[in-house]
Amino acid sequence: MKITVIGLGYLGATHAVAMAELGHQVIGIEPNKQRLESLASGELPFHEPGLDKALVDVIEKQRIVFKADHDEESREAELHFLCVGTPQKPGSNEADTSYLFSAVEALAPYLDPQSVVVGKSTVPVGTASELKQHLDSLTGFDSYLAWNPEFLREGTALEDSLRPDRIVIGVDNEHSENALRDVYKPITDVEQTPFLVTDIATSELVKVAANSFLATKISFINAMAEIAEVSGADTVKLAEAIGMDDRIGKLFLRNGIGFGGGCLPKDIRGFMARAEQLGVGSAVSFLGEMDQINQRRRARVIDIAKSQLGDLTDKKVLVLGAAFKPDSDDLRDSPAIAVANQLALSGANVVIHDPMALERVPEVAPNLTPEKDLVTASEGAEAVVLATEWREYKQLDPNTLKVSKKLIIDGRNALDVENWQSAGWKLVALGRNVHQ
Ligand code: UGA
Repeated sequence: MKITVIGLGYLGATHAVAMAELGHQVIGIEPNKQRLESLASGELPFHEPGLDKALVDVIEKQRIVFKADHDEESREAELHFLCVGTPQKPGSNEADTSYLFSAVEALAPYLDPQSVVVGKSTVPVGTASELKQHLDSLTGFDSYLAWNPEFLREGTALEDSLRPDRIVIGVDNEHSENALRDVYKPITDVEQTPFLVTDIATSELVKVAANSFLATKISFINAMAEIAEVSGADTVKLAEAIGMDDRIGKLFLRNGIGFGGGCLPKDIRGFMARAEQLGVGSAVSFLGEMDQINQRRRARVIDIAKSQLGDLTDKKVLVLGAAFKPDSDDLRDSPAIAVANQLALSGANVVIHDPMALERVPEVAPNLTPEKDLVTASEGAEAVVLATEWREYKQLDPNTLKVSKKLIIDGRNALDVENWQSAGWKLVALGRNVHQ
């Protein structure tokens, strides 16, 4: 099928390449010149395992083209996927959906009454209905608009797109449903992936509900960590024990400095804002508490550092990790950056290391000192904070670091406690009483 994918950020670029991998003919639309040129030359503008190779592959097979704007070729596409960002509005909890409205304005002149527009962006429930009204007013006919949320995770994005655990589509007519069934046929034929058809509002809600549930799970275990820290209990063991109950499940119960990234934090806030607008704010007001727990865990690291070192002024602290999670170079709402910034605000001289995301650190946190070489970064440090659980840190030989004080705060419960302790380190872990 011929399709357009509009907006080639994380979601769009992955979707466009995945669709081309499945055999579709893809027109990728991206107004950002730098991003566009990078993709067109086969260079992924962000780190995502496997996607880089797949991009080169589909370019070579001529299954994908990249353009800054629509042109006559867009008329030939049967489906148009909207993948633009819906960031948090500055100074508000609300999601900014304006890019979606601009995207349909640019697309409308190229649509005919049979074209199907499919939203993939994460949106507040009710957005699709407003968008359809706008689209109809632009096209002058009753347009087909469907919603098809995306559940990919950074780090496994291509795999999640090609072999999703479910496909959810929100439609209000058979024509849209058939078009979406056709486009995903290469997946559903082979993988027997569950294909859920819902009304449009439900499909919008599925995505924010899923992310809210995940955020709640993480904050729940982090709340338990607060209790464990004052009662002598061990949150890692606790998570293992409750996770063995299938109804609870062991995933997303890793306690530490909490969730970040471009999705979970903004999605729970956007959800609260939309619920308020709908007059049912109290239904999800608990998400505000989840957000608070998440922030408190970051601050806890600074409290531990102060309790161990006293006044932090001019003390060198090494923060291991900048990305919001391993195998990613994404710094958006990164707990690691937040912790490093708070340490710096408390007067510490913060040196930060990350295997992949270091380049962009000065843009988002100019008060931190990035250092590429881990051993150099550690020289003279009075404390080390593990903030992102990269494999390289988990496998690190504690003896290689040239610190002046052997104190490590494990913000992700990722280190081998015995290994560090037997090398003479004092290890303080969030939600556990492991230090001697
Ligand atoms: C998240 C969801 O997991 C995806 O299903 C969704 O499609 C995506 O958002 C999105 O909305 O686009 P992602 O942001 O890539 O994916 O990252 P996650 O793997 O969910 O991790 C989010 C944060 O939670 C990270 O900072 C991670 O370190 C933290 N986390 C995760 C914990 O603190 N504890 C855990 O047990 C798991």
